[in-house]
Amino acid sequence: MCGIVGYIGKRDTAPLLLEGLQRLEYRGYDSAGIAVQTGTAAKPGGLKTAKTKGRVRDLEERIPKRFSGTAGIAHTRWATHGVPNDVNAHPHLDPEEKVAVVHNGIIDNAAELRAKLTADGVTLVSDTDTEVLAHLISRAQADTLEGRVQDALRQVEGTYGIAVLHTDFPDRIVVARNGSPVVLGIGENEMFVASDVAALVSHTRQVVTLDDGEMATIKAGDYRTYTTEGSHTASSPETVEYAAESYDLGGHDTYMHKEISEQADAVDRVLAGRIDDRFATVHLGGLNLDPREARAVRRVKILGCGTSYHAGLIGAQMIEELARIPADAEPASEFRYRNAVVDPDTLYIAVSQSGETYDALAAVQELKRKGARVLGVINVVGSAIAREADGGVYVHAGPEVCVVSTKCFTNTVVAFALLALHLGRTRDLSVKDGKRIIDGLRRLPDQITEILKMEPEIEKLARSYADARSMLFIGRVRGYPVALEASLKLKEVSYIHAEAYPASELKHGPLALIEPAMPTVAIVPEDDLLEKNRAAMEEIKARSGRILAVAHQEQEKADHTIVVPKNEDELDPILMGIPLQLLAYHTALALGRDIDKPRNLAKSVTVE
Ligand code: F6R
Repeated sequence: MCGIVGYIGKRDTAPLLLEGLQRLEYRGYDSAGIAVQTGTAAKPGGLKTAKTKGRVRDLEERIPKRFSGTAGIAHTRWATHGVPNDVNAHPHLDPEEKVAVVHNGIIDNAAELRAKLTADGVTLVSDTDTEVLAHLISRAQADTLEGRVQDALRQVEGTYGIAVLHTDFPDRIVVARNGSPVVLGIGENEMFVASDVAALVSHTRQVVTLDDGEMATIKAGDYRTYTTEGSHTASSPETVEYAAESYDLGGHDTYMHKEISEQADAVDRVLAGRIDDRFATVHLGGLNLDPREARAVRRVKILGCGTSYHAGLIGAQMIEELARIPADAEPASEFRYRNAVVDPDTLYIAVSQSGETYDALAAVQELKRKGARVLGVINVVGSAIAREADGGVYVHAGPEVCVVSTKCFTNTVVAFALLALHLGRTRDLSVKDGKRIIDGLRRLPDQITEILKMEPEIEKLARSYADARSMLFIGRVRGYPVALEASLKLKEVSYIHAEAYPASELKHGPLALIEPAMPTVAIVPEDDLLEKNRAAMEEIKARSGRILAVAHQEQEKADHTIVVPKNEDELDPILMGIPLQLLAYHTALALGRDIDKPRNLAKSVTVE
């Protein structure tokens, strides 16, 4: 949510920053801006800026021909304070145009700081919270830029990832992190900074991830890290796991399509090296939970947001079924505000693709403060939640660029299956059942490939349902979270209203909605609830409703059935959602939607 990028070195800055911004656009795309330093240590200069409402491609058109500089910062915005317009776009400058700031996060006491600055005679030109930072830095008295930024940050409450340029200090960019990610990229006589490695991985794979409360000064040939209080911090560079190509479209028209298509390989990755056939279990190296501790767990509570919450709902069912531990999932955003009872015998699990989602992070921090044990099920290695958790499972889906999550959802559910199996085998799951689940897990990649081959058929179906104004998704027990996730996919990417309901609840209200113009997607696994699901379809048919079933065999009552391969009952939800990702994708395509960047959304929601 908002992306920042910066560069200092010998190369011309603007093209590098624009390329970085393109790669960060998933974090917000309502306005974009750039500032470059024209001076050098030997020859002082000024700042050149360009900013605009709209996308990075709109910014490109705004950049004048002569825009060279060897240090610069840039931003792509998802508006929080102030509507998206040219003035509210970052970077924000002080009145003398000596300081430029880009910011990801929210300054909570911005109103108070604005009032103080205004009382001191300062004119604020934008409606943003960020502008106060530019003024505070410019008014700070310290000799160094680092000292001035520290002085400003001492007055600020809230979250930030910031990068600062100052014309009096043209040899450096100062950055700071509190609650919003900042990574440094180390090149040959050049340094990068960004909200995400995606922006710098085509130039360097050597990175340093800042911690909360940490700052850095980057210069062309070196960098140093320290705290906001000025103490030196030890930072060891790490190598980014995925190569630059993993962040490219790779021949697909959209990232969503690319990421749906990658799922067989992604599932191979989450399984790789973890299965232990001898003991019919899995090894989860980072779990940090010994068998005695695993046996002592009385409850499991899973916390996540959006798609990750839906993955958590499936995970909770898997844990109950395989490990026989009472488990449930709750939106992290709700949990953190309801002063929940934190129970010492409960194992808390935070689930997040980005590992940055603020609501999930805040829930983890609150739990840790109260002494709970928290594990993470996370995709982005070294992300804020991963660092905060006591241990966990990485889902290894690889970079997910599309705002709409697909492969991460699938891999997260597989990671939960691994965790459930592991917990089950430290408790009462038999060797026979352990082997059964392992065999099922091994079948998944080929079965996913089989499902993906149905794309032409699903595309046709999507076209025939694209005129619906609203759609109902139903499922029962294992099928219900699949329905929830499929309805979220459809609404966020196609803008068709969609609602998920437990099939068992149809009679208690939603049946009133059924008519030919309101199609139903029914999740119908071949398990012990098959007949009940058939009865629900019968009720819909009796009221002239159109039905698209996702099932393991043709459904007589459905107008269309997408027949998916059968796995073990517990693992079926992993496969049943995949054709519905394709359905959402092709519906959005038929309707001409901006698939990778749905309106009003952004990935990595680092604000409350
Ligand atoms: C929807 C989607 C979102 C995210 C949610 C949490 O397709 O991707 O609902 O799942 O914003 O994000 P993470 O998983 O990064 O915590």
